[in-house]
Amino acid sequence: MKDEGRKISMITCYDYSSARAVADSNVDCILVGDSLAMTMHGYPTTLSATTAMMALHTAAVAKGAPAKFIVGDLPFLSYRKGLKDAIDAVHELMASGAHAVKLEGVRGHAEIVRHIVDSGVPVMGHLGLTPQSVHALGGMKVQARTKAAVRALASQARELEEAGCFAIVLECVPSQVAREVTDLLRIPTIGIGAGPYVSGQVLVYQDLLGLNPGFKPRFLRVYANTFEIIRTALNAYDNDVKSGAFPSASESYKDPDFIEEGVTKPTEHAAGNGRGSRITLTSQMNQ
Ligand code: KIV
Repeated sequence: MKDEGRKISMITCYDYSSARAVADSNVDCILVGDSLAMTMHGYPTTLSATTAMMALHTAAVAKGAPAKFIVGDLPFLSYRKGLKDAIDAVHELMASGAHAVKLEGVRGHAEIVRHIVDSGVPVMGHLGLTPQSVHALGGMKVQARTKAAVRALASQARELEEAGCFAIVLECVPSQVAREVTDLLRIPTIGIGAGPYVSGQVLVYQDLLGLNPGFKPRFLRVYANTFEIIRTALNAYDNDVKSGAFPSASESYKDPDFIEEGVTKPTEHAAGNGRGSRITLTSQMNQ
């Protein structure tokens, strides 16, 4: 798509029912991001994601969106404990239905990236703001704001490309920096907070759909106020239950019009009153 000048759309996704919606959309590909530690499990950072969590969510997404390209995120430190542990983590994600894996940074694990690629697994890199290093970075801050940092970012991007990555996520870097890096590479860059001059964009499902009220970084466009839609629907349901408007007759099972001999028999039928019918079945043996 980069070669053809077509932009790539990517969205994070973590569960079966959301994956069915993505499957039914035109979005090109899915990232089962370790951001699920925050969006699905309520942790304050991505550091709490484990390989088991990633595998469980990847499997759910793969069932909901079997025709989409799915990238599974390698969680915090899973690829920093040596080759065997890294390959075991990759194995779990791929066996769960991922088509590729993503990992953050490159310093100290370029060899591991190479080994994963040589093992037949496509690898996506992730540079700029790498949330697994949140504490080393001093918070979730825009990166590559000095000349030295831009040079480092460009050389890391080249290193990842040389190690065999098929794409690189660029997170929270200035637009012109992302443009420079994108122009430097043959492989596509997927931006999040990296401006328009990248090969594609990725957003977190919950953020894009307005399910994360109060979170409004500069780069985010909220496409629907889903939190409000859900709250309104829940309150309408609560009202209907408490007023008796739900369930109606058409939302309730009809009285049985035949009785299996010797088993059950209707003994009491409440008249249809707009709130559904009450059916009491008493076993003949108890009469
Ligand atoms: O985990 C994640 O969701 C990510 C994206 C923000 C790129 O890494």
